[in-house]
Amino acid sequence: MAFKHKHLLGIQTLGPSDITTVLDTAESFYDISTRKIKKVPLLRGKTIINLFFEPSTRTLSSFELAAKRLSADIISLNKQSSSVIKGESLKDTIKNLEAMNPDSLIIRHSAAGVPYFATTFCQLHIINAGDGAHEHPTQALLDALTIRQKKKSFKDLKVLIVGDILHSRVARSNIFLLKKMGARVVLVGPPSLLPAEFKKFGAEIDYNFDRAIKKADVIMMLRIQLERQEKNYFPSIREYKNLYGLTEKRFRRAKKNAIIMHPGPINRGVEISADMADSAKSVILKQVKNGITTRMAVLYLLLGGKEREAIN
Ligand code: CP
Repeated sequence: MAFKHKHLLGIQTLGPSDITTVLDTAESFYDISTRKIKKVPLLRGKTIINLFFEPSTRTLSSFELAAKRLSADIISLNKQSSSVIKGESLKDTIKNLEAMNPDSLIIRHSAAGVPYFATTFCQLHIINAGDGAHEHPTQALLDALTIRQKKKSFKDLKVLIVGDILHSRVARSNIFLLKKMGARVVLVGPPSLLPAEFKKFGAEIDYNFDRAIKKADVIMMLRIQLERQEKNYFPSIREYKNLYGLTEKRFRRAKKNAIIMHPGPINRGVEISADMADSAKSVILKQVKNGITTRMAVLYLLLGGKEREAIN
């Protein structure tokens, strides 16, 4: 099991064997969360700090639970409860936290590149929990675990990523990962939210959802990220929903065994209808569940727990 990285800043810097190592490690941790005592001592004595400058439900709580299930100590800070609002700089904040001698910082920030910036002056293991519209590597890894569990292999799968591609770090990390693992990635959305330059990542582009969804194996829906939009990218939510919303009628064009994914948070009735989000084809809550084991794997591989046998 080789994973020779100090940080997890993005999927771009990982190879297919790194990705497979994370997924295999996550699988090996799977049953810990179902035990009566959901805890193993693999990271006992390690200290982790969650530093979140943007809101989060899934990523923040699953990193906390992942650390606790591995017996690490973890605390979480958000922008409102930190001295950033009193004018302290990001660099000073990180240097002060480093002075408390933790082992790792997990950073979410609205600006692309902040986790990388931290590595230029901080010696801790840095994990990117989402930086602007750049990358969200643990989301792509947990998505990959979910796809592998359902489809066995990535080779030649037709994966649609639908919606606000322009502002989506989830889309970028998933494109990088899925292309590295041999899947076919088709991006779908209105031209204003799907620039042609995404082709350079090896993805195909289709502005017509009804056409693109034919024979799809995986349909990954994305939220419209209104908080990152500085202008109107489409005339109305109603028009967006008509052209790019996932409805039962549209879903019938996909393969019979196609699965529906969404990183969350979902906007029911906009990019996905409520009945599709809750249908038997939806693996949205499975993704959330996989978030814990995937983040346990990432923490374990980076922080170098040595007592592997102790989980058995
Ligand atoms: N998918 C995701 O990153 O969700 P949160 O913003 O709730 O962490």
